Amino acid sequence: MSDEGIDSKIIDGRKLAKKLEAEVKKGVEELKLDRGITPGLATILVGEDPASKMYVRLKHKACERVGIYAEDILLPETTTQEELIEHINTLNSRDDIHGILVQLPLPEGINEQAVMLSIDPSKDADGFHPYNMGQLLIGNEGFVPCTPKGVLRALEEYGVEIQGKHAVIVGHSNVVGKPMAAILVNRNATVSICHVYTDDLKKFTMDADILIVATGVKHLIKADMVKEGSVIFDVGITEEEGNVYGDVDFDNVVKKASLITPVPGGVGPMTISILMQHVLMGAKNTN
Ligand code: GUN
Repeated sequence: MSDEGIDSKIIDGRKLAKKLEAEVKKGVEELKLDRGITPGLATILVGEDPASKMYVRLKHKACERVGIYAEDILLPETTTQEELIEHINTLNSRDDIHGILVQLPLPEGINEQAVMLSIDPSKDADGFHPYNMGQLLIGNEGFVPCTPKGVLRALEEYGVEIQGKHAVIVGHSNVVGKPMAAILVNRNATVSICHVYTDDLKKFTMDADILIVATGVKHLIKADMVKEGSVIFDVGITEEEGNVYGDVDFDNVVKKASLITPVPGGVGPMTISILMQHVLMGAKNTN
């Protein structure tokens, strides 16, 4: 196939993210003008994990681009759960902060779920609070985890039909797999959730109209595991010697897909622009 033929199948996450950011920027300007409110995001990073530091930096840069105030709270690796929750309580009560994001993973010894529970659900920019997760499950989509919501936006932007289609999700994390399944079931897809214990993964992936892979296993999905004409989202990231790899063997799988995300430049940029959208939403919802 010519490069042009392949290019037309590749979902351009950076371009979509730019479009979404432009929408958010406009919304931020309007909110400032109409109500004098500047949306504010506080991020909390515990420890020194280099990947987490990079993700937080990217989120702050995005805030700057769209006009959102961003506060960067850096806590030492030795921070206790109680100390972390105290910081969150302070942010919960601040009127200038409309989104609170605790970068994951947290150091050992801190209970992630206890931390998520302490975030005011109306400032839960990541959508990880059990209240927001429960709302998603019953079809009330407010703060929905950013990565699956970014995948949904891309499906919509590219005009992919969801209703009645078989969507197969590989990976059952709380951050991607489970909320992705809820988002697609809410739109009447038939959803299979596969994971590391699935007996015959290929049987499922071969039948997928929409395949979403979020495992962190480099090139897990090969060309002989996907259906001709399927739509494929690669959420995985593996870094090896300065190179970044997805969960999909892109160079070979692209030949069979009708649409596919690259790594990098696919799902990642969308995730961050959805986060910006959520901070704006949090600010708009204040009285
Ligand atoms: N770590 C990996 N993905 C995410 C995410 O979407 N949000 C946060 N807070 N931490 C993460």
